Amino acid sequence: MDSAEQEAFEATIAADSTIEPRDWMPEEYRRTLIRQIAQHAHSEIIGMQPEGNWIGRAPTLARKAILLAKVQDEAGHGLYLYAAAETLGVSRDDLERRLLDGRQKYSSIFNYPTLTWADVGAIGWLVDGAAIVNQVPLCRCSYGPYARAMIRICKEESFHQRQGFDILYTLTRGTDEQRAMAQDAVDRWWYPSLAMFGPPDAISTHTERSMAWRIKRFSNDHLRQKFVDMIVPQAEVLGVRLPDPALRFNAKTGHWEFTPPDYDELFAVISGRGPANRQRLTHRRTAYEEGAWVREAAVAYAAKAAARAASQSSGTAGPPRAPAVPDEVA
Ligand code: 3HC
Repeated sequence: MDSAEQEAFEATIAADSTIEPRDWMPEEYRRTLIRQIAQHAHSEIIGMQPEGNWIGRAPTLARKAILLAKVQDEAGHGLYLYAAAETLGVSRDDLERRLLDGRQKYSSIFNYPTLTWADVGAIGWLVDGAAIVNQVPLCRCSYGPYARAMIRICKEESFHQRQGFDILYTLTRGTDEQRAMAQDAVDRWWYPSLAMFGPPDAISTHTERSMAWRIKRFSNDHLRQKFVDMIVPQAEVLGVRLPDPALRFNAKTGHWEFTPPDYDELFAVISGRGPANRQRLTHRRTAYEEGAWVREAAVAYAAKAAARAASQSSGTAGPPRAPAVPDEVA
């Protein structure tokens, strides 16, 4: 690195412009982005499991189709994010291995079980709601490929939040049993959703550095507060009670006061001791092993296609054509 490169990097950040893959960047900036983007990608992929659990049991055909589309969206988000991380010089395969052997994390929230259909509503409303509050500022993150991936992801996340709200809205206008089921789901998902925003600012390892680099635009506590302020009026519309007796509007600050989540529980879940950690990773490892033949076939097909293209450009016959494969498989 020479000082001109460092200066150019700092000037780009100060001008609120984006750093692109070809630009020089400090190694620590690159490492921070790889860590955050990979953790984010892993969260999207692991996050397919708790909701996927209800695809076969959704109460109507329409609900099933919507849930299928939503879970598919999460897979797409994971892929955009792995692609963004690859521009930083890591391979997707390497990132996947880091997830599977526990070197990289994924969001704490997906280590909680989905016990009833109302949990699908609570995840959409609260978890996707928290994701939107956390992720909209990432559309202005200083690293171009991550910021651009986030624009599309956020559009889809707002559809996800509406579908969750709609499920709970329907249940709270249903029978006593359905209302109780909705309330029970909100009771269980409220504090884990607050914890998604990460540890409090005072003990957050990366916030200060990441904000100086404009990777993060706001601190964990700032976004957690914004989420609570957004959710309280929505809970009133739904007719559900948020499980916090200390919840109170402070007219002076213009914000809702609330009880913070149990951060010891957050750290326990992050370090692998949540209710569903083992199940989530075991499922992912099995999927990875069972998908080995697909990866091998894709690599073999790509090698054949490259050899054929090379032989065509050099005028030799090359290897015989593989049987026709639809474009989307290739
Ligand atoms: N779950 C798991 N790990 C968490 C966490 C959480 N909820 N919150 C913080 N951590 C980890 C951090 O990764 C960091 O670990 P490390 O130093 O060992 O790598 C440590 O705890 C300290 O936390 P910091 O506050 O210092 O970490 P960050 O500055 O990275 O902030 C973050 C944490 C706010 C989650 C930030 O990384 C972020 O905004 N990430 C992008 C968004 C994201 O990954 N969201 C995950 C959910 S995706 C989703 O919800 C999908 C949707 O479809 C529902």
